[in-house]
Amino acid sequence: MSLINEVNKRRTFAIISHPDAGKTTLTEKLLLMGGAIQTAGAVKSNKIRRSTTSDFMEIERQRGISVSTSVMAFDYKDVRVNILDTPGHKDFAEDTYRTLTAVDSVILVIDSVKGVEEQTRRLMEVCRMRHTPVMVFINKLDREGRDVFELLEELEKELNITVCPFTWPINSGRDFKGVYNYKTNEVSAFKPLQNNEPTDQLPVTYLIDSEEVRNYIGEAKLPVFKEELEMVHHFFEKFNHDLYKDGYMAPVFFGSALNNFGVLELLDTFIEIAPSPGSYEASQRVIVPSEEKLTGFVFKIHANLDPNHRDRIAFLRICSGKFERNKLYFHPRLKKKIRFASPTSFMANTKTVIDEAFPGDVVGLFDNGDFTIGDSLTEGENLTFKGIPNFSPEILREVINQDPFRSKQLDKGIRQLAGEGLAQLFITNGGNKKIIGTVGELQYDVIKFRIEHEYGAKCSFASLPYTKAYWVTGSDKEELNRFLNQKSESIAQDKDGNQVFLVESVWNLNALKKIYTSITFHSTSDFKLESQVQ
Ligand code: G4P
Repeated sequence: MSLINEVNKRRTFAIISHPDAGKTTLTEKLLLMGGAIQTAGAVKSNKIRRSTTSDFMEIERQRGISVSTSVMAFDYKDVRVNILDTPGHKDFAEDTYRTLTAVDSVILVIDSVKGVEEQTRRLMEVCRMRHTPVMVFINKLDREGRDVFELLEELEKELNITVCPFTWPINSGRDFKGVYNYKTNEVSAFKPLQNNEPTDQLPVTYLIDSEEVRNYIGEAKLPVFKEELEMVHHFFEKFNHDLYKDGYMAPVFFGSALNNFGVLELLDTFIEIAPSPGSYEASQRVIVPSEEKLTGFVFKIHANLDPNHRDRIAFLRICSGKFERNKLYFHPRLKKKIRFASPTSFMANTKTVIDEAFPGDVVGLFDNGDFTIGDSLTEGENLTFKGIPNFSPEILREVINQDPFRSKQLDKGIRQLAGEGLAQLFITNGGNKKIIGTVGELQYDVIKFRIEHEYGAKCSFASLPYTKAYWVTGSDKEELNRFLNQKSESIAQDKDGNQVFLVESVWNLNALKKIYTSITFHSTSDFKLESQVQ
């Protein structure tokens, strides 16, 4: 098959949601439909449950799951579907943001009872920033949910996206009868799955004007429902593929992932309208997937679960060309050639060595410390991909060495864990002070635990008065230097040597913006994205 055909048959996406909305359940049902797994329960939830015996055991369990479910691929109607897993805990949100740089679209799961939740908002901000196409699955219709019109209005308003229902539910909760499919003009009848029923059983469908539907919905209720369908048609905007592809319009589906209901409609539409791998922007040029030569970037790194083996797995998203096992590739940052003898793909607990992969695919590469997040791989070209940013952390703490005899190990550990993307490392001008920035408390526990178990060092973290970190650039060099000198106490360097200003409060920042008018304070390390993610 030609490269362009390989590109066109791929759909690489992530399922995102607020925890508990049904991401794991939906993933499982999609895999069942694709024949990638045979039984329900094969996909483990990667949620970290605080309440279990030991947080650390839970973190290790989660790390194990994250490796095996990092990418789940299956073929459906001649389309290769790659689902990229995202962490189930908000403290690891940055990992999710980075995974979103490696997908071509997303499916957003909303709990019909709860509507838009905190994580939904944040994830959608990142999607909008990148113009990622979004499809919405409104889940748990078998539960007494909110009014559907009200729910969709909330989606439009809070997520700043135009919604376009592709299906429409017939009641909800105990009265939930199914969904109407606008495209096929059919009604799928809802039947809750029983305990021992195969979960891949598909619902029965009838044409809306059939005798069966009249009996099913009821002679009296059918005209009311049909009127509602008409209303929906007029109330919401018509589907526009370009608006969807640019991330402004989201097709909406209703169903119950647990009962494998409404999922088929979602999957069938997804493979039809979701974009195949698109172009990527590097600092040097735009990369098109059909280019013959391989390019790709690392968006995720996993340390080995066994502390005796320091090797890690770097996840490479292929952007162009064909990846081949044992071929020599170029690592532009290190100016080094590397060959990969056992590149892997991961699939619901099974790991397979692959011989080749194409744009849109994700390959796991065994790494001895050569890669950090954002690194690229080429056939000799010097490329730096854009848009794999670090986001301004929400908590900043100083690393305190607790074992003076192991300071080298601590230093190495902190740098490696930061390279893995677990947290951000900032070093203050003096050079001695290391500050760890994260989006959640849990990362400090993870770092402490892993520093002790994997590097044999000990550390604690001291609170700092800062609440945010901003990358600074300035059009007036003199003013920028003046600022950096005057604020040297609060200036640090990130892993790439960029200047970062540590801020105590937004008020403080706003006051400084008025004084230093030529300086820009960026909330992501990729200035081009100009993030609104705060
Ligand atoms: P997440 O990955 O987004 O965090 O959510 P997950 O799929 O783990 O689902 C969260 C809970 O919601 C699970 O229940 C799951 O069974 C339930 N759920 C998912 N889809 C539906 C649905 O369509 N209808 C109903 N009624 N429930 C649904 P749990 O009790 O937390 O876990 P479990 O013991 O069932 O695994």
